[in-house]
Amino acid sequence: MITGASRGIGLETAKSLALPESGFSKIVMLARPSQELSDGCDYVASINPDCEVVKLEADLSDPAAADHVFGVLDSQKIRLTTMVNNAGFTRPASINEAELADFQKTMQVNVYSPFQLIQGALRHNHPLTHLINIASTAGIGGRSGWLTYSASKAAVISMSEVLREELKPYGIDVICLSPGRCATDLRKTLAPDEDPNTIMQPDEVASVIKLMISPLGQLLKSQNLVVRT
Ligand SMILES: NC(=O)c1ccc[n+]([C@@H]2O[C@H](COP(=O)([O-])OP(=O)(O)OC[C@H]3O[C@@H](n4cnc5c(N)ncnc54)[C@H](OP(=O)(O)O)[C@@H]3O)[C@@H](O)[C@H]2O)c1
Repeated sequence: MITGASRGIGLETAKSLALPESGFSKIVMLARPSQELSDGCDYVASINPDCEVVKLEADLSDPAAADHVFGVLDSQKIRLTTMVNNAGFTRPASINEAELADFQKTMQVNVYSPFQLIQGALRHNHPLTHLINIASTAGIGGRSGWLTYSASKAAVISMSEVLREELKPYGIDVICLSPGRCATDLRKTLAPDEDPNTIMQPDEVASVIKLMISPLGQLLKSQNLVVRT
């Protein structure tokens, strides 16, 4: 299951994991309802006839979304082996301008929803082997004007470190990736004047996610991995 799969890094990850060599028989693509999500699901479904695509519409800014997600998965008898917590939200603002409601939404989408989805998968006894959490270099070094986003991504890194230790005895690999500047809509929100052709592309991050799920990823998984050009 890939969250935030309607565009950007999530969509490229779905495309990459649908390829026959990735070995997945089913990919759940989660985002809010949109034409973009439907088109993305159709495209990914066309890549490999042996890999079924399931569209899962959910708004992760709603704390009740995780229950809805597991309701859908249970009703379709879908058992998760791999979860890519990639959905992300930001509304950059200085400390003087930042609204508590935006901070709460940022934390819900970026931190609490991965927490709820991981907890839900464990409680529903999904046969997880890989959890991939997408943090950010903004979570390693805070940036002026990005208070809420940087704080949320630092929390994703810390949560991943704890989960890596807690879930190791159960044979679940917890992988935390921190991309740097990547040409997506979210990046445009953070840096509107930047030329997207000069920075990392989302398919490059998707290739690293695919590598981390492969046997070679075993050699790299023990750290918060920075991915940047
Ligand atoms: N781009 C960068 O430079 C960069 C750098 C470091 C880390 N990251 C991280 O990479 C991840 C992917 O972002 P991206 O850069 O690929 O951005 P993007 O192209 O804007 O994609 C963001 C994804 O998150 C989903 N999303 C946002 N709010 C949601 C909500 N309330 N419920 C469900 N899904 C929601 C969006 O789906 P809908 O809007 O269709 O629902 C979309 O699929 C994020 O966690 C981001 O923080 C990005």
